[in-house]
Formats: sequence, structure tokens, C-alpha cells
Amino acid sequence: MTRTILVTNALPYANGPIHLGHLLGYIQADIWVRFQRMRGHVCHYVCADDAHGTPIMLKAQAEGISPEELIQRIWEEHKADFADFLIEFDNYHTTHSPENRELSELIYTRLRDNGHIVSRPVMQMYDPEAKMFLPDRYIKGTCPQCKTPDQYGDNCEACGMTYSPAELIDPVSVVTGATPVEKESLQYFFKLSDFEDWLRQWVSPEHMEAEVANKVQEWFEDGLRDWDISRDAPYFGFEIPDVPGKYFYVWLDAPIGYMASFKNYCERAGIDFDGFWQPDSQAELVHFIGKDIIRFHCLFWPAILRGSGFRVPSWISVNGFLTVNGQKMSKSRGTFIMARTYLQHLNPEYLRYYFAAKLSSGVDDLDLNLTDFVQRVNADLVGKLVNIASRCAGFINKRFDGRLSTSLAAPALFQEFATAAEPIAELYERREYARAMRRIMELADRANQYIDEVKPWVVAKQAGQEQQLQEICTMGLHLFRQLLVYIKPVVPRLARQAEEFLGVAPLSWKDAAQPLLDHVINPYQPLLTRVDPKAVEAMVEASKETIGDQAADNTKASDMEPIAPEIEYDDFAKIDLRIARIVKAEHVEDADKLLKLTLDLGGAQRQVFAGIKSAYQPEQLEGKLTVMVANLKPRKMRFGVSEGMVLAAGPGGKDIWLLEPHPGAQPGMRVT
Ligand code: MSP
Ligand code: ZN
Repeated sequence: MTRTILVTNALPYANGPIHLGHLLGYIQADIWVRFQRMRGHVCHYVCADDAHGTPIMLKAQAEGISPEELIQRIWEEHKADFADFLIEFDNYHTTHSPENRELSELIYTRLRDNGHIVSRPVMQMYDPEAKMFLPDRYIKGTCPQCKTPDQYGDNCEACGMTYSPAELIDPVSVVTGATPVEKESLQYFFKLSDFEDWLRQWVSPEHMEAEVANKVQEWFEDGLRDWDISRDAPYFGFEIPDVPGKYFYVWLDAPIGYMASFKNYCERAGIDFDGFWQPDSQAELVHFIGKDIIRFHCLFWPAILRGSGFRVPSWISVNGFLTVNGQKMSKSRGTFIMARTYLQHLNPEYLRYYFAAKLSSGVDDLDLNLTDFVQRVNADLVGKLVNIASRCAGFINKRFDGRLSTSLAAPALFQEFATAAEPIAELYERREYARAMRRIMELADRANQYIDEVKPWVVAKQAGQEQQLQEICTMGLHLFRQLLVYIKPVVPRLARQAEEFLGVAPLSWKDAAQPLLDHVINPYQPLLTRVDPKAVEAMVEASKETIGDQAADNTKASDMEPIAPEIEYDDFAKIDLRIARIVKAEHVEDADKLLKLTLDLGGAQRQVFAGIKSAYQPEQLEGKLTVMVANLKPRKMRFGVSEGMVLAAGPGGKDIWLLEPHPGAQPGMRVT
């Protein structure tokens, strides 16, 4: 029976580039989609940028552009990154679209009319300087429990306590450095608890892996609280109908973005949108997400769909997080690798295969070990798979004008490979890719073993063995073609090249059971080169964020100030040096040395008082880059709180130098 499936991937935020961690879930979903299509099912695959929310608004502000300009630029980058990793969305849309506005309004209105929306006043932290309410992550202060400074407004990274931002000691707004005040505002809530009974039975292994369902079931114990779906202006998003000045919280319209992207595609492709979204729809709806956003997809999203009269998801697939070389991705170690940086050094199919070779249906984290990566790809893809073709193709091309034999040398072996089709398909279906890859590579070993046994290179030298040579090489190419069918969802470009070499139409799953006799193939071109470990090293080097290497060379030993007593490496490692852009510089009343600087760290802002007035007019400083100690404990000074130190060099007076702008230096970069 032909299935009809709509597949989505989590929508990446439009505030930064795609990195290898993101790619895990996109590659996982793309493999699944390609597999379903090879099986003859109808599978639509959509995604979009998640373009709304405070971080995007503030980032645009910091860059001095409109949010629309920012999200347009990032959308283009994301689209190109995905395309170059061979992730073949039918549509890549944005949540800042007319379709999404219309659907968000429709869903909200239905929820409201069905009695699932309530409003009540809420006390929230407000930045009086920026004139905006602050999300918890935009407030920092000292932990009320363990007294560790510089903690976010929702929880303490040192002791793990969760609290509300009002409980922080000496809270400051990350946006302006001002002390936030509590202010009341009317908020709109979605009554999640209306759906508790239904959710309790829906959250089950019928719709997600059992381990995910168990995790979500635990949350019922804490009780389902109302979910605040509104935000006050200024906010980049959609205004709530009939509630001027209030906007939908980004997480309300983000999953609706799945529908909106699909709708946009349906209109272009002539597909019946409503047929997919009615409660009784026969089509499947499958969401691929990462483990950090389970709550939104397994509780809020199904409840919202149900509360507004739409169908609910068929399955939520959850991936774990990516680590590199056993650790969290790190900019200083060069393992925070952007999709684009990878592409400048390596073939995307290497990564697709490596991820597939390690992915299971579970939510465990997946480690990209770079040494193992080189070894695994070279051994499996080049050493095992491609090798089969290159061992047989030459003889067929040179001795038989590219013509395959009219019968097979080992029909039983062909049959053995053909019967592997269903078990391997079953593994793909269940997202057990690692097990599928293992099975495919076992078969590849078997194929190479066959060639070792029949020794075409020996047969080729024997007189009167022409037919045998043609038959065994034909046999080898048949095994290669069967394996190609099985691995095609993972390495589609390699498969395309191999299809051209074999002179066949795009392979589908059924082709693994069909022989290809008396057929003419094309000259063989190497299908894949080995991974060069040097390219991997170069990629890691390019991912390291370092600056200012030359500075040290300019200091002559003779007029150098004496060097301070030695410190331990650990002392140095505690200092978090960052590039910062001076977005505002102001005179401070009654201070003769100080200027008040507002520094942008890429995602956060700090206020610092710096003693550089003798050398600079405030106007000269705006837009300049500097290096700052980002984790210095905030100090109360006579003129206000100073949240860091700016590094400058020089003897003083008129001669104090900040960083020279460098095209590669970006606010927030760690200085190493
Ligand atoms: N915008 C939200 C999703 C909205 S869906 C309606 C979001 N965006 S994200 O850019 O932060 O993440 C996009 C996807 O990448 C999510 O599925 C997330 O879990 C995943 N990952 C982000 N970093 C990751 C790793 N380091 N490893 C694996 N997946 C990661 O969340
Ligand atoms: Zn604490």
C-alpha cells in the first residue's frame, strides 16, 4: 500500500549559521525521506527558518539592520547550507510569512473560541532603559542560593537551582546593563491542562520512542501549567488579533510554521493542503526534532492542534546531541564546526555516512570522533563499497565494450543479496541506521570475498575464459548495484554518479531484486576519494577562533615593562576574553578618566566603565572592536555597575590603543 507522508525538521533559528550539531537531525530526516521515496511512497518534506523572537530582534538591532534584512540573509545562508549537504526539502520557508500569520491567527482564534485561552496580569522583569520586558535569559545576577555571580535569570549553572529572575541578587539587564524593575502586564495563556487526559494516553510508544514517552510522562506528575503564549512590544513576531501591542510568543507560531511551509508548497505544487490536516486525514505526519525541544513537540504542539480542530502528529522522532571528540563542541578547540566550514574542506557525503553509521532510534548523544571519522569512511565507503565497482568495471569496459553478460555467475549470491532488502528496509523504517549500515557493510565484505575467490585478474590472463571473465565481473557489478540501492538514501550523490556509470535510471528499492543482464555500462570514473586527514585538520584549524597573533612581535625587549609573576594555566583559563563591539560610548558626569561603554558581545550586551577618556572622544569609539574580560564579577562603581574590563594597550594619555577592526573578528568570539 502506498503511504502518504509529510515529514518536517525542527526549524532552525534565524540568528546564526547551521553547525554540524544541527545537521545531525536534518541528515537523519533526509535519509528517511529518501528511503520512503525509494520504496514508492509519497513523501513531502518541508522546513523553514524560525524567524521570530527577542534574540533575532536584538541581533538585528546590534547589527544596525532591520529584522527583516537579518532573517533574509540568514535564510539564504541556511538554504545553501542544507542544499550543499544534499538535504532535499521540497520547500524551505520562513515563519515570517503570510501563510504563517494566517494560520497562527486561525489557530489562536479557534483556541480562544473553544475556551482554551485565558488572560491574567503577570509581574515581569522590565528594562526601563530599553523599555522592554526581559526574557529570563536576558537577566543576569548573583544566584540567591550559592551566591555565584553572573547567572541567568532562570537557573544557576553552578548549583542548579531554578528560580525566577526577581529572586536574583543584584540583577542586571543583559541588554543595557540597567537594573530591571518588576512591572505588571496582561498575558495570554494556553490552558494545557484542558488536554491532560487526552495527552496522557496520546503520549505513548505509538507516537514516539518509549524512552521519550516515559520522559514526557514524568512531566505530568508536576502538573500541566498554563503556557504563556504572549509577549509585549517591542517584539519581532505576529501581533495577536484584537490585542494590540501583544505578540505571539515565538514558540506558538514556530510549529505552525510546519503547516505554513507545507501550505506554501501545496499552492505551488497543486497539493490538497486540507487533506493532510483534517483530523481524519489518512496521511502520516512525522516530525524530526532534537531532544531539547521535546516538551514543545510532545505536549504543547499536539494539544494546540487538537484544541483547534486539526489532526495530530503520527510520530515524533527525537535525536540526541552531537559531541565532537567526546566533548561538547567548542570554539577554542576548533570543534564548533559550521556547515560552511566543513564544506570548504570535506565532501558532505562523508558526514552523512558517518552519522548514518552511528545513528539509532534512541536519544543518546552521538559522538563525531574525527580520527574514527577518517578511518570509518575510508574503510567502509572507499575500501569496501566503491572498491567492488572499481575491481570489476575495467574488465567489462576494456574487454567487452562495456557489455554485461547474459547470465549470472552466482545466482544464489545475487538472491542472498536480494533477500537482504526487506530486513534493511525495516531498519531504515525504524531509524536504526547504524544497524542498516552494518548489514550493508557485511554484504560488501561478502562481495569483496566473492571477487577474491573468483580472481578476475587471474581469469583475465587465461586463454578461452572470456565468458567466465564477463560473467564474474558482471556478478561483481550486480552485487555493487544491490548495495547501491541499500545505501542510496545516505549517499545520494555517489549513487547518482554510480547510476550514470551503470547507465541505469534512478534506482528504487525494487531494483535490488532485478538483474541487469546484457546491458551496456559506461566508462568507470572513480566514485569517491579517500578522506584526507589533513583536510580534517585544516577544518579544525579554520574553526578555531583566534586573533591578534602579530601583536606580540611588535614589542621590543629593551623597552618592555617587567613581566608580572608567573601564573598557573588554570588562572589564565578562568579568564574569558571576548571580542566586543562598542555600540555606545558616553561621557560620565563628574568622571575625568572614565567613559561609559555599551559593549555588544554578539548575543549579550554589557556596560563597562573604561579609563580611556584621555585618548578618545566617545564618537570615535562607536563601532570599534575591543577585547574584553567577559566574566569579571560586576563591580559597583560610583557611577554605576561595571560588568567587565576592556583591554587596551599603550603608555596612557593620548596613546591607548584598542583593536584594529579585522574582517574575521566578530563580537562574542573567544580570544585564545
Ligand atoms: N527554533 C527552534 C525549533 C523550532 S521547531 C518548531 C530551535 N532551533 S535551533 O536552531 O536551536 O535548533 C534546531 C534543531 O537543531 C533542533 O532540533 C535542535 O534540537 C537541534 N540541535 C541544535 N544543536 C544541536 C546539537 N549540538 N546536536 C544535535 N542537535 C542539535 O530549537
Ligand atoms: Zn547557585
